[in-house]
Amino acid sequence: MKYGYFDDDAREYVITRPDTPLPWINYLGSDGFFSLISNTCGGYSFYKDAKLRRITRFRYNNVPHDDGGRCFWIADGDAVWSPAFLPAKTPLDSYICRHGLGYSVFEGSKDGVSASLTVTVPRGTDAELSKLVLENRSGSEKRLSVYSAVEFCLWNAVDDSTNFQRNWNIGEVELEFSDGRSTVYHKTEYRERRDHYAFYSVNAPADGFDTDRDSFLGRFRGWSEPAAVERRTSFGSVASGWAPIAALRNDIVLAPGESKTLVYMLGYVENGEDDKFSAPGIINKEKAHAMLSAFDTPERFGAAMDELKAYWSKLLSRFEVRSGEEKLDRMVNIWNQYQCMVTFNMSRSASYYESGTGRGMGFRDSCQDLLGFVHMIPERARERIIDIASIQFADGSTYHQYQPLTKRGNADIGSGFNDDPLWLVACTCAYIRETGDFSILEEPTPFNNEPGSEVPLMEHLERSLNYTVTHRGPHGLPLIGRADWNDCLNLNCFSRTPGESFQTCSNFESGKAESVFIAGMFVKYGREYAELLERMGRNDEAAGMLASVADIEKAVLEHGWDGEWFRRAYDAFGRPVGSSENDEGKIYIEPQGFCVMAGIGGCEYGRRALASAERYLGNDFGLEVLSPCYTEYHEHLGEISSYPPGYKENGSVFCHNNPWVTLAYCRVRDGEGAFRLYTRNAPAYIEDKSEIHRTEPYCYSQTIAGRNARTYGEAKNSWLTGTAAWSFAAVSQGILGIRPDYDGLVIDPCLPGSMDGFELRRLFRGTRYEITVRRGENKGMTVDGRPVPGNKAPLTGASVCRVEVVI
Ligand code: GLC
Ligand code: GLC
Repeated sequence: MKYGYFDDDAREYVITRPDTPLPWINYLGSDGFFSLISNTCGGYSFYKDAKLRRITRFRYNNVPHDDGGRCFWIADGDAVWSPAFLPAKTPLDSYICRHGLGYSVFEGSKDGVSASLTVTVPRGTDAELSKLVLENRSGSEKRLSVYSAVEFCLWNAVDDSTNFQRNWNIGEVELEFSDGRSTVYHKTEYRERRDHYAFYSVNAPADGFDTDRDSFLGRFRGWSEPAAVERRTSFGSVASGWAPIAALRNDIVLAPGESKTLVYMLGYVENGEDDKFSAPGIINKEKAHAMLSAFDTPERFGAAMDELKAYWSKLLSRFEVRSGEEKLDRMVNIWNQYQCMVTFNMSRSASYYESGTGRGMGFRDSCQDLLGFVHMIPERARERIIDIASIQFADGSTYHQYQPLTKRGNADIGSGFNDDPLWLVACTCAYIRETGDFSILEEPTPFNNEPGSEVPLMEHLERSLNYTVTHRGPHGLPLIGRADWNDCLNLNCFSRTPGESFQTCSNFESGKAESVFIAGMFVKYGREYAELLERMGRNDEAAGMLASVADIEKAVLEHGWDGEWFRRAYDAFGRPVGSSENDEGKIYIEPQGFCVMAGIGGCEYGRRALASAERYLGNDFGLEVLSPCYTEYHEHLGEISSYPPGYKENGSVFCHNNPWVTLAYCRVRDGEGAFRLYTRNAPAYIEDKSEIHRTEPYCYSQTIAGRNARTYGEAKNSWLTGTAAWSFAAVSQGILGIRPDYDGLVIDPCLPGSMDGFELRRLFRGTRYEITVRRGENKGMTVDGRPVPGNKAPLTGASVCRVEVVI
């Protein structure tokens, strides 16, 4: 069952009823100011850091789930309704929500009045803008009271939801009703240590206002039925402590056929220490005034929307395919790339499920995200690589996470996740293949952010790989440390204390627990690094690296192959994990993906491993993490066995690792297998199972409950997942086979029989490659009409390069 449809021309998902199984959200903003917005106009805003600069409140565990956000009420006679259904909950005569790229539109109508609300964050502006157009489509005059409201967060989102003895005393606002505008300034703590404020404004004289939440709502009421709205009035309350809000009322009269437009702005401003006040205690509002004047007409709003659309068209034009597979095209051309950009901005911080108050940016997460956005924003990718490498330690190990505001390593979680350093090699090589920018390797990059410790980035990569080589266990395989990619396989943890974090608890430090998965990573990325060295003419070092690769590959073949699949690990006592010798967790997905991608054991082992993965892990939505699921807690395995069977790392489809297997299928040239797996959980392909899958049908989620779960097929934790980047890599580089290389663009499709070819445009090193792939007799490639041996289109430097490939 579906709750809407894709409008590919407009690049929108159109939701046709408010009661989606979960809030279906969108992200607004691409620089400093960010908003999350659901299909009923719920959500929250923040500036750069969802913990420290939270602008509006959100209650994650609220009932109803998605209350609050941007509230609009239209009072028309006896009826009060909201254009996006919430918060009023009055049944509408019509409802639509269009989530587009960086904006959302809500169209609601009731009793002959239609409302169209467009919400966006304009490029380069620290504000959310909402344009509300009301039209009287009835035959008689309409006298409407239009209310809108936001609830401010007192900046630090954690403190805001814990420290009430203080916080209920500090709230302050200022009001400014002049120049045809009405503005509420949220200035809590401004007079003390803060130099930032927020404001909410409408581009018209307001007929009333409230700034104290509980006055506006009234006792025993929530956002669905504020007392002020019910009584068609405003109380003029001025917040002093408690919960500051901005609630504005505009009374408007609409003749039949007439329409009126209001533009609202929720903005954020930082003032310099010396420019804080315009008079004692009064905020200097100059910057806010400038922002307000820049967008105070519908025309200016329209210009901002045009600019936004042009920005996205340009970004997405770097990779566009026409394959005849409608769903594949819409994922590749629009939604998958869009989600990659969201993960660039958010990492794993702020969603409806990631509270924005916990972990900051993950080392491995950000490195992998980069694989999905490097072709769109190479300059920002470069900066990100240096930021990430700067939290590494001199021995090659690294902090697991860092805070986006400070860019410092997060000491709470510390280090010891032994896959982390290798992801730096993965993303740096991908960056150089995309851009040809070898100069990044010279970039002076510190360890642990310590000034004076800078060495060229190249040395960080070398130390990353060296860390694996020098940290190996009894079977010659890499030590796993606290965990590898699978955060919940904690082989050195042995936790018996309830509530203790598996990620940070004291380690048993067996010095024995090994990871076959890290071995697979090392073989793959060690080879990539060796190739990099060769390209730089450092052949001796390359040979040294290849010797280490061969050594670890041998260890995998001797101790990591179980007979029909790759084992997962060895535990702290040297016993295999993910082996037919185990009663539960006999087979895990991760090494099947990575060891096959790395080519360990060649196609023969590869095909057997993939057949086993399909046989034991395959379900309707992809491949589960492991099988059989753990039914009891195994102290020597850690968190993985603490989850109920079928959920999270204990046997859900953890979507992130499925594209590894898609790429592995491509590696063994099995286009059917690759496409089958890709389409099992690519959101557009499962749109018509939305009542089961439940999260948004236009983005990937972290997990889909496995067969052993009570809610088999239900997805959780949408948006912020490495699935976005890896799925884009799998479909673009594996199935379509378009792979950037140091000296050209490889075109090596691995298509299912159902696809005959495709046309594709790819901006690469300043040249637009216009690629046609089709099936035929005379196999081979022509570049600008001339036959070229092999499958790599050369760098031509021209603005356009035409490539034809017959497969
Ligand atoms: C989460 C983490 C990621 C980890 C994965 C598997 O998505 O953000 O770092 O690899 O879980 O445990
Ligand atoms: C929990 C989650 C896992 C995540 C980890 C790190 O263990 O289950 O998915 O990667 O926390 O935050």
